[in-house]
Amino acid sequence: MLGRIVTFFYNMHRIESGKGIFDAVYAEKKPVVLDATDYSADSFPPFFIQEDFHTLIIIPLISGDELIGMLSMASYQTKEFTSIDIELLSAIGQQLGTTMRNVWLYEKVQQELKERKKLQEVHLENLRLEAADKAKSEFIANMSHELRTPLNSSIGFSELLKQGMAGELNEKQKHYVDNILTSNQFLLTLINDILDISKIEAGKIELVIDKMSVPETIQETLSLIKEKAMKHNVLLKTEFDPELEFIEADKQRVKQILFNLINNAVKFSKEEGGTVTITAKKEGAMAQISVSDTGIGIKEENVCKLFHKFEQLESGISQKYGGTGLGLAITKQLVEQHGGTITAQSKYRAESTFTFTLPIISSIKKSIQAKINPGS
Ligand SMILES: Nc1ncnc2c1ncn2[C@@H]1O[C@H](COP(=O)(O)OP(=O)(O)OP(=O)(O)O)[C@@H](O)[C@H]1O
Ligand SMILES: [Mg+2]
Repeated sequence: MLGRIVTFFYNMHRIESGKGIFDAVYAEKKPVVLDATDYSADSFPPFFIQEDFHTLIIIPLISGDELIGMLSMASYQTKEFTSIDIELLSAIGQQLGTTMRNVWLYEKVQQELKERKKLQEVHLENLRLEAADKAKSEFIANMSHELRTPLNSSIGFSELLKQGMAGELNEKQKHYVDNILTSNQFLLTLINDILDISKIEAGKIELVIDKMSVPETIQETLSLIKEKAMKHNVLLKTEFDPELEFIEADKQRVKQILFNLINNAVKFSKEEGGTVTITAKKEGAMAQISVSDTGIGIKEENVCKLFHKFEQLESGISQKYGGTGLGLAITKQLVEQHGGTITAQSKYRAESTFTFTLPIISSIKKSIQAKINPGS
């Protein structure tokens, strides 16, 4: 046959039904010969018409019983293919089909092996990163501890100097001692925050869950901020739901959450002052606490960045308002560790509201009780 067909073209086809002339091969899984004189031009593939071929044979590529592709060959002669040619080409189609199936299977296995190797590499990389992260957190925890001791001593001695325990200070000396105190206190807060975040990230913060009064905890926190609020001309208001009194939580940590939020609300108030409202209410099984302010607000595109570490939303904000951008990151972690959630809503240059929830009955405490009294 090859001696007679001087020129022929071939094309491989992945099987697709509904493609006109290929349909018969698709249905019968047998070769089909088409002559240009018997069919209209639009029945043939474009290459056939472009090259001015006269005969087209389409051979099914079969593996087992399955049709996995088609091979078409075209000739410039009319009535080119004899029954012997067709038989021979059918056998070739069978061979090709099996070979192609094997090649595909081989490629698939290779691909799967590659993906499995990649997954393994990602898993190993994750383990490496986790170990590095843990080492970093441990290093920070140790370093922070070492730094706090001399810093506390420096703060203590500065306070003694300020109180005149080592003799009366002149105005300039008082001013310098004040500066030392403020800087040292800022540094201590920063170290405490870094220590907190690294402990949280290393999973080392253990909550001391106990029954605590929500209104009382809020009032206690407010008393720490009252003076600062007065300085900023900010009015502090509370709205308590009589249905919400006690919850099971770590009181010191709840105070820290409240302090961060109320402190921000006062700190980011407008220059002329404003109002900060703390609302506490019962929402099903949760206590819902909101801190709203009438302050500088947050641009919509920045709300999603609020709880990221070291994120201060506008350049120069730390010079103007102080802080390092860790407060909200710690707050979110502490809320979530309690089993609650925190969200923020804001209108730029108008107001902001931070709302967090805490379970009224803590599952953390329950699991400890369950360990102590199994079956109770
Ligand atoms: N109530 C608020 N009104 C307007 N902007 C706020 C408010 N609370 C937070 N922000 C913005 O979110 C940023 C992150 O707050 P976050 O409390 O984490 O950091 P910070 O107050 O700047 O520093 P730190 O809390 O560590 O002392 C702030 O720098 C500020 O840009
Ligand atoms: Mg803050």
